[in-house]
Amino acid sequence: MISSGAPALSAEGLGKRFGDRVAFEDVSFEVAVGEVFGFLGPNGAGKTTTVRTLGTLIHASAGSAAVAGVPLTSNNEAAIRRRIAIMPESPGLYPRLSVAENLQCFADLYEVADPPARIEHALAAVNLSDRATDPCGSLSKGLRQRVALARALLSDPEVLFLDEPTAGLDPVAAREVNELISGLGHGGVTIFLTTHRLEEAERLCDRVAILNRTIRTVGRPSELRDRLFARALTVRTASPLSNPDDTFDGLPAVIRWRQEADGSYLLNVSDTTIAAPAITRALVGAGADLLSLGEAYHSLEDVYFALIDEDVEVRQP
Ligand SMILES: Nc1ncnc2c1ncn2[C@@H]1O[C@H](COP(=O)(O)OP(=O)(O)OP(=O)(O)O)[C@@H](O)[C@H]1O
Ligand SMILES: [Mg+2]
Repeated sequence: MISSGAPALSAEGLGKRFGDRVAFEDVSFEVAVGEVFGFLGPNGAGKTTTVRTLGTLIHASAGSAAVAGVPLTSNNEAAIRRRIAIMPESPGLYPRLSVAENLQCFADLYEVADPPARIEHALAAVNLSDRATDPCGSLSKGLRQRVALARALLSDPEVLFLDEPTAGLDPVAAREVNELISGLGHGGVTIFLTTHRLEEAERLCDRVAILNRTIRTVGRPSELRDRLFARALTVRTASPLSNPDDTFDGLPAVIRWRQEADGSYLLNVSDTTIAAPAITRALVGAGADLLSLGEAYHSLEDVYFALIDEDVEVRQP
């Protein structure tokens, strides 16, 4: 058990290089017990290598970490492995064996206590009890991902690493896997999730890190939005304002404004609670027919592109 108050996962200046190639470096973060933590980044950013390092499959080149409350050292690898599970990028199941037989093999490998009970529990957790006798090779990709998740649950892990669990799944299958992950998170399992689906991260994760060899940012999706983007209000009117400068210039808490291609007005504001009523009054005063006034929304995708585009610009000579 992770001692109370201690994080489930922590990394401090963690790095991994293969020869001259740096997979990731100077990675520091903490994940609280029961948190669903998203790890996002472009192809080759170092996500899988981070999972493999924290999962004791490869050794770090620099820095320190603790996994499930246990310091990541060569002496502690077995102790860490007992407390975690990894669902890798490709499920790695035996296609000719049935779902239950596959789980039996892995239960033996992981030396879990009371395999029949654990297998039954894992199958029920991923809603696959009725497919136990189907050969894995005959299952759809979505169902195979669920078997892989069941396999990861066999050892009743405290920390679960999921490396792109919904890659290649259709929206319905992806949502089913997401619901399973969300349920596990609510059940107190700490989840470290890598994904390229930004809306999935936004929905599932308490906090996310954006990695591009180094960590570019860590926080709750809403915090990242606020950190990166100025607050803005979108105003729509029935017809264009005859004199928008007179209407918007000098209003309290309005920093600047511009008209968008669709005819709406985007106003950068320092405080929406001051700006919104002032804008409404100004529009009424100008005789405009206000259709809507709302906060401009930035998604996690906007945050991601803002950070990763910056990196691309930096890389250019
Ligand atoms: N065993 C290895 N030997 C040499 N280089 C490696 C090895 N494993 C990973 N790398 C390199 O480390 C970098 C990070 O790879 P990694 O697989 O961690 O990226 P990723 O973020 O998981 O990408 P993707 O989104 O494509 O899965 C890449 O440049 C990769 O080529
Ligand atoms: Mg990867």
